Amino acid sequence: MSDVVPPLSNDSATSSVKRGWLDQRIDVVGIRRTLLDREVPDRLTWWHTLGSAAMTAFLIQVVTGLVLATFYAPTPDHAYESIQYVQREVNAGVLLRAMHRWGASLMVVFVLAHMIRVFSMGAYKYPREANWLFGVGLFFLVLGFGFTGSLLPWDQKAYWATQVGTSIAGTTPWIGGAMAKMLKGGSQLGAATLTRFYAFHVLWLPVLFAALLLLHLMLVVRQGIAPRTDVLEDKAPKRTSDPVYPAYYGTAYAASKHTGVRFWPDIIAKDVITSLVVALAVLILAVTVGAPLEPPADPSDSSYIPHPEWYFLPFYQLLKLFPGSMESTIAVGVPLLLVIALLGLPFFDRGSRRNLLHRPGSLAALSVLLGGSALLVGAAVRDVQPTIAPETGRQLSSAERAGRALFQRQCLGCHVVMNKGGDEGPALMQIGAHHTTAWLHSFIEEPRRFHPNSRMAAFGSPVLSHQEIEEVSRYLATLRGSPGAEITPQIHDTFPDLQKSDGAAGATKNEKSASTNARKQPTQ
Ligand code: HEC
Repeated sequence: MSDVVPPLSNDSATSSVKRGWLDQRIDVVGIRRTLLDREVPDRLTWWHTLGSAAMTAFLIQVVTGLVLATFYAPTPDHAYESIQYVQREVNAGVLLRAMHRWGASLMVVFVLAHMIRVFSMGAYKYPREANWLFGVGLFFLVLGFGFTGSLLPWDQKAYWATQVGTSIAGTTPWIGGAMAKMLKGGSQLGAATLTRFYAFHVLWLPVLFAALLLLHLMLVVRQGIAPRTDVLEDKAPKRTSDPVYPAYYGTAYAASKHTGVRFWPDIIAKDVITSLVVALAVLILAVTVGAPLEPPADPSDSSYIPHPEWYFLPFYQLLKLFPGSMESTIAVGVPLLLVIALLGLPFFDRGSRRNLLHRPGSLAALSVLLGGSALLVGAAVRDVQPTIAPETGRQLSSAERAGRALFQRQCLGCHVVMNKGGDEGPALMQIGAHHTTAWLHSFIEEPRRFHPNSRMAAFGSPVLSHQEIEEVSRYLATLRGSPGAEITPQIHDTFPDLQKSDGAAGATKNEKSASTNARKQPTQ
């Protein structure tokens, strides 16, 4: 297509040299010079290829996503079927779907790794503050892709994980209701939600993502790749906000590039190798682990326990650590803090030190963040409840299961179930045979309503929320003796307070409990 490509050394004379047809029109040589022949700092590390890794995963998502979208039907009646169709009838359909799923996970991995690399090398500092912001935007869009994409198969996991996700959004003060409604396209999770999530997943997010990615890459090319940290620490002014810093940076950065190392052909090999490794990893995971498809979504099956995608696990687990009354504060506060911290980072942190080891504050912050997330994921993995509860021998509903987890945390210290627990209180292995959920709820909320001298503390709000007490009560109601040795229920509930004072619980009973009791009314 081009007969004469002017050699690069003739740069200044290009216009006078005969150029190819295409080149005359779109300046192929110019493009090549900016993208490939650009000089880069020498001694770049493998860590510098993590951005390419994330982009490779993204390209895999684009290609596999385009094919999947060709077959997908975004309605509750047909979504699941259309996925089954892809798996059964489309060539390599199973592989395609599994690659899309693993590509998504690996993309999150590499975006996070790339961000950690940029953070650790101080590459978000002058002059790359804006590009850090674009990167943060891309990170949140990736999470958006994950959240919207997980609903699309319309299987049990998809439905219930989205149910949890949207209800967490719904706990936001003031705007929560509107936000949940906006996400779901109505008050229920249904056809409107699926249409909406699909539109986000294949239109809104890709358009936004492509725009930000373009800006991100344009800046990488314009500003050049951030060099190794030592290059920019030698004799640097203390702060990047120092008026002489830009001049210092210009000289130091130029010096790091004046070694004649070019993107092509000197360092591109590293990026190509990384990209191949990523593609191979996606392929191997897709073939060996695959992508499960659970039974179709059943909105009436509340016994299903949703597990969020791994990258939402730390957040999900964090929410579980706090009592219900604080949930909305955490649900909103933590993401908000994260956004502020990430967006504000290049503006709060104006020190000129770049190497993480020379920035104790940053090192501590990163360790706390990563260590904390690892602990939370560990706890989440440990918290996974068996599908069949050993003490009842049957599958528990999700409320009962939540109650079981709460019981193990709050009550096992004093009560024995399945030969485990403390002996300060009575064993509860048969409690469900003697009391109804309503009685149990009332008792747990305020034991002194029933036993004026109870040694068991009241678990009413703020210790446990109304919903949590209900969950614990429902769990206890399932306990009727060990599996196989169940006893026939003989309920003997009495509600002293309710009968005596028509709901003015315990207010007149005894002074000692009156103070803890007054704010709490029985709810039945
Ligand atoms: C500090 C120890 C302690 C803790 C913690 C504790 N309890 Fe109790 N619980 C007792 C004692 C002691 C009794 C005996 C009755 C009384 O003193 O009122 C009791 C009684 C009960 C009873 C009534 C049993 C019956 O047959 O009448 C139930 C139900 C119960 N506890 C449930 C719970 C639940 C649920 C939790 C956790 C949310 C819990 N307990 C936490 C000490 C405790």
